[in-house]
Amino acid sequence: MKFRHAAAAITALLVMNAAAAQTAAPAKPASTPAPATAEAKPGANAATDPATPGMPKAETPTAPAGAEATAALKPGDATAGQGKAAVCGACHGMDGNSTDPQYPRLAGQSEQYIAAQLAAFKSGKRMNPIMMGFAQPLSAQDMNDLGAYFATKTSLPGVADQALVEQGQTLYRQGDTDRGIPACMACHGPDGRGNPGAHYPQVTSQHAKYVEARLKGWHDNGTQSDDPHTKIMAGIAQKLDEKDIAAVASYLEGLHTNEPAAAAPATP
Ligand code: HEC
Ligand code: HEC
Repeated sequence: MKFRHAAAAITALLVMNAAAAQTAAPAKPASTPAPATAEAKPGANAATDPATPGMPKAETPTAPAGAEATAALKPGDATAGQGKAAVCGACHGMDGNSTDPQYPRLAGQSEQYIAAQLAAFKSGKRMNPIMMGFAQPLSAQDMNDLGAYFATKTSLPGVADQALVEQGQTLYRQGDTDRGIPACMACHGPDGRGNPGAHYPQVTSQHAKYVEARLKGWHDNGTQSDDPHTKIMAGIAQKLDEKDIAAVASYLEGLHTNEPAAAAPATP
C-alpha cells in the first residue's frame, strides 16, 4: 500500500521533472509514505514533509528547465552538429553548398549568424514557413552545434554575370553617396566573409537568386522584426532599385573570383 503511493509519487516526479526525479530515485520508496496529494504537487510536498529527509533535493523544480538550458549552453560542437545536420542536407547540401539556388549556402557562414537565424525562424521573427518547421524542435544548443558544423565547411565558388559585375562591384565597394547607400563591404568585408562578432553574415559565393529574394523582401516589405540587425539591412535595401539588387546579387555570387583583393586565405 505504502509502496504503491510512494511509487505514484515517484512517477509523478518523473513526469513533472525528469532531472529532479533522477536525484530522487536513490531514495528508498518503501520507507517514504507520500500523501495522495503528492501526485498533484510532488515537489512542494516532499519539500515540506519532514518524514522524507532522504529526498530534499528532488524537490527542486525551482530551477526551470529553461534556466538550466541557458546556463548549460556551450559554444557549438561541430561533430555533434554534423549528426544533427542530416535533415538539413536535402535542401542546403550536406556540406552546406546547396545546388538549388533558392536555398542559401550555409558553408562557411558563421556559427553566431546561423544560430541567430535559427532562433529567429523558431520565434517567427524571421518569417518562413519551411524553416519555422525545421527550427521548431531545435534547442539553443542544437542551433550552436549546427552553426559550428556549417562554419567548418567551405563555400563553393559561384559565377557572376559579367554584364552586371561593374555596377555590382561599385555598389559593394563604394556604395552610392548621392542616394545614401553605404558600401556593403564596410560591414560584410572586402572579401565578403562578414564579421561574426558583429553578426554581419558572410555573403561571398551566396546564390544570386537567394540574395535577390532576400534584398527584394526587405525592399518591398521592410522588416516586421524589431531585431536591430535586420533593421540595418531593411533600411539599406529600401534604397536599392531592382537593377541594383540584380547587380549586387550577381556580384556576390562571383565575389571570390572577381576581386583579386578578396582572395583571402581559405579558412578550412
Ligand atoms: C525543405 C528545405 C529546407 C530544409 C530541409 C532546411 N532548410 Fe534551411 N532554409 C530553407 C529555405 C527555403 C531558406 C530561406 C528562407 C528565407 O528566404 O527566409 C532557408 C534558410 C536557412 C537559414 C538562413 C540562412 C541565411 O543565410 O540567412 C539557415 C541558417 C538555415 N536555413 C538552416 C537550416 C538548418 C540548420 C536545417 C536543418 C535543421 C535546415 N535549414 C533545413 C529551406 C530548408
Ligand atoms: C551597417 C552594416 C551593413 C551594411 C553597410 C550592409 N549590410 Fe548587409 N547585413 C548586415 C547585417 C547586420 C545583416 C544581418 C541581418 C539579420 O540578421 O537579419 C546583413 C544581411 C545581409 C544579407 C542577408 C544574408 C543572408 O545570408 O541571408 C545580404 C544579402 C546583405 N546583407 C547584403 C548587403 C548588401 C548588398 C549591402 C550593400 C548594398 C549591404 N548588405 C550592406 C549589415 C550590413
